[in-house]
Parts: sequence; structure tokens; C-alpha cells
Amino acid sequence: MIRQPNRRHFLASGLAAAAVWPMLGSVRAAQFETDPFALGVASGCPTPHGVVLWTRLIFAGAAPSPADAFSFAPAPHYPPIDVAWEIAADEGFAHVVQSGIVTADETLAHSVHVQVERLEPDRWYFYRFRAGDALSPVGRTRTAPAAGAENGRFSFAFAACQQYEQGWYSAYRDMAGRDLDLVVHLGDYIYEKSYGAEHVRSHGTGAPSLLFEYRDRYALYKSDPDLMAAHAAYPWLVTWDDHEVVDNYGQDASPTDRHPEAFLRRRAAAYQAWYEHMPVPPLAAPSFEALRIYGHHRFGSLLDVTLLDTRQYRDPAPEAPQPAEMSRYTMLGAEQEAWFDRIMQESQAKWSIIGQPTLLSARDLELGPGTRYSADGWDHFRSARGRLLSSLRGAERANPVVIGGDLHCFYAADVKAEDQTLVASEFVTGSITSNAPSANAFETVMAENPHIRFGEARKHGYALMHVAPDQARVELVAVSDRKDPAANAAKFQEFVVLDGMPGVNRV
Ligand SMILES: [Fe+2]
Repeated sequence: MIRQPNRRHFLASGLAAAAVWPMLGSVRAAQFETDPFALGVASGCPTPHGVVLWTRLIFAGAAPSPADAFSFAPAPHYPPIDVAWEIAADEGFAHVVQSGIVTADETLAHSVHVQVERLEPDRWYFYRFRAGDALSPVGRTRTAPAAGAENGRFSFAFAACQQYEQGWYSAYRDMAGRDLDLVVHLGDYIYEKSYGAEHVRSHGTGAPSLLFEYRDRYALYKSDPDLMAAHAAYPWLVTWDDHEVVDNYGQDASPTDRHPEAFLRRRAAAYQAWYEHMPVPPLAAPSFEALRIYGHHRFGSLLDVTLLDTRQYRDPAPEAPQPAEMSRYTMLGAEQEAWFDRIMQESQAKWSIIGQPTLLSARDLELGPGTRYSADGWDHFRSARGRLLSSLRGAERANPVVIGGDLHCFYAADVKAEDQTLVASEFVTGSITSNAPSANAFETVMAENPHIRFGEARKHGYALMHVAPDQARVELVAVSDRKDPAANAAKFQEFVVLDGMPGVNRV
């Protein structure tokens, strides 16, 4: 079994399998000066019988290499191109189970989203694309266990915050070499700005606001071979945070864009570029003024993963944290809140993993008497947090475990309701690369918030969760040096959550 797609291997097997490619009768003759699959392949949103396959064709002149990516102008026009795809039961593509042709065109940046159906549950598949005379790398993906399956184990990685300039993606190289079922990304997949100093590489351009600029930013990030390897190794689930558009935005308000109408145009461009680069289901009639990305994903009877969108529908942050009893402010919007409550009541899974971008638990930032909270997180939306926790408490069968990112620190916390009842367990992954907060700020958090049982602000990496019927085990993984392209990675801390007993236990 391959862990990372191997191009030489692929070329050998590609020749042998050439006969099984669908007839490309309608294909317009396509020849490429550079590899059109230079952004790799990806898969996502696995169900028991389906998965989404993704790629995006990229052309000479729009290539993402730092030397020639930055034309400071929209890409020249390219014609529609037919792209053949196939998915096989084996990595040699001797047993192709389905194939087809889709047309990629410039309205969606020549991105390809294929919704494959009628697959077998809980098994590995291999997929690849062909356009004209060009072959893509091979990706590996896995369907979800059947709805009622008595599955006994499931392992996934979760990651966030991968500022391209502040470090190398060694964490993803490590992730790609593991034996996982899934990767969950919790936001800040791209950064709109540079931030910080001592960069190891460069965006090459300033903050995007137009569609072609957001596309270029994604293409740059996705040209990283380690990130590509992690996409090619597993199916992904994704949600977003703020930097996919602009720092600290909420709904139609942005700290740096004065006019809501202009900002909503920028947001639509950012949402479109996000869609074009993520392995999410194809949209029949895309409109990017609004883009529903929250969703509920089942993995047999063992667990489900519910991903939330805390950016698109949130109220502008109140000036100060409102009292818990005030119900005016929403983080999720009324519709998503009601949806989440229903999902939690209906969930039959042993474990409920709730993915949202940041820390759900309270985090007092003021040392000593008095309190101070971040206006960008749940602390200024206490009533909304209270409603979310009520939904969790109502779901009596489930073991709720909240996962998040955003803060560039690793945290493990006991999630408590306003009445101090222990409701859930929470794990926040540190950043893949993004700069950590100051040591002082971090120490204040640890001193003032005893429910945050563990924190680590000096390391970068990601987290793993191994779910079994009796426990969920969480490993925190750090790279040896984010500024070293050859860094290795290792577990530095482990926790366990026991069935029926919310709260984090250090191993
Ligand atoms: Fe971040």
C-alpha cells in the first residue's frame, strides 16, 4: 500500500491501465507546456457509498511556482478542458470500479469536483485524473463505515493555521505517512496577509481582495508537496475560520473593509476560491454570496463529526461579553443553531466530535482580579455558547468532544456550562506553522483558567484522535523545528477521554 503517491510508480501502472480509461471522444485536444496537475489531487466528504474527488488544472503562466506565479494580473483565458477520472480498488488500477469525464472551465478556475457514488463502505480506493496527455498523481481515499456498522476503531488527524511564510509543512509530511482514516481541517488554510518576521518563504503578493488574487493564494499554498501528500493520502473534512477571507471578519463586517457591500464582494471572491480548492461536493448552481459549508458526517455507530461555520452568520461581536442570559447574539446564526440542536438530538453515535475553528471554553486573558476576553471568540457570545452546550447536554447518548484551532497553542480543556457542570471535553490543536502568542499571554491563560487543563504554546504541529467504543485517545504531535524543511515530528503529549465521563485525562 502506498502512503504517499509515488509518481514513478504511477507512470508505470498508468501505461498498463491505459486501456481502461474512458473513451475521450469529446475531449478537446489538450497539450500542456507544464504539468496541469501541479496542485495535486484531493478527496473529501466521505460517506458509506461515496466520496468527492478534487483537482484543479493549472497552466503555464498561472503556475504557482514563486518564480512565475505572480503576474499581478488575472490569468489569461484558457478553453474548457475535458478531464477523465477513475477510481480503483487497487493502487495499480487493475480493478477500476468507476470512471467518467467532466469538463473543467475557467468560470471555476478549471477546478474539478466529482461526486462518486455506489462505492463499498469502509474501504480504501485509489483515484487519478487525465487531461489530454497529462496524468495526475494518484490519490488514496476511504469511504465511511456503513450507517449501522459496529465499527470498533477510527483514527483521524486535525489541523489548523498554516501561514505559508512562517514555516514549512513538515507536519503534513508526518501526517501523510501515518495510518489514518480521515483528516479534519479547522480553518486558516490560507492567510490573507504576511504577519510576523523571519519568514522561510514568501507570498510574493499583498492581501488578496479580487477572485484571481485569492485563487493565486490557494494555488501557492497547494503547490506545497507536503500539503499535497496529506491530501493525497486521506479524505478530508474542512471548515474555515477568518483568514480565508480577512482577519477577524464576521458576517458582513470586516475590521479592514469599511463598506459592507464592498466587503461582501470580497467575501464572495474568497468563498469562491475556497470552494474551487477544497474537496467538497460539486455545486449545481454556484452562488458565492452565501456558501453553506457546515455539515454532519457519520462514521458508523462509533462516531460522527459535525463541522460548524462560525464566521458567515455571526453577529458583530458585542463590545463587551454579554451576560449569559442575554440571547440576542449568535455565533452560528439561527438556522445553523437549530440545525445543530436537531443533529445532536438525533445522533446515535457513541462519540460526537464537534469541529469549530477556535476554543469553545472560556478563556480569561486578564492576570489577577478582573476579567478580559477576546472579542473574536465564544467569550463575547456567551449566550450562544450556552445554547450550544444545552444542545450537547440534551444528547444523552453521545460523548461530546469539541475540537478547534485558531489560537496557535495546544489546549486540552474541560468544557463547563455556566453552572459549572462538566459538559464535554475539548482539544485545540496548535498551528501547523503560524506564530505562537507571547509567553506572557500564554502563562496568564494557564494561571487564570483552571478548566484549561493543559497548554503548550511553543510547539507547532497537529493532533490525532483514536476513537474506540470505550475511549477516545488524543495525541499531540509537534515538529522539531517549523523553520527546518527537513524537520521530523513526534508525539509530545497524550490524553484519554473515557466513555460516559466528559473531561480530559492526561496519560
Ligand atoms: Fe490562525
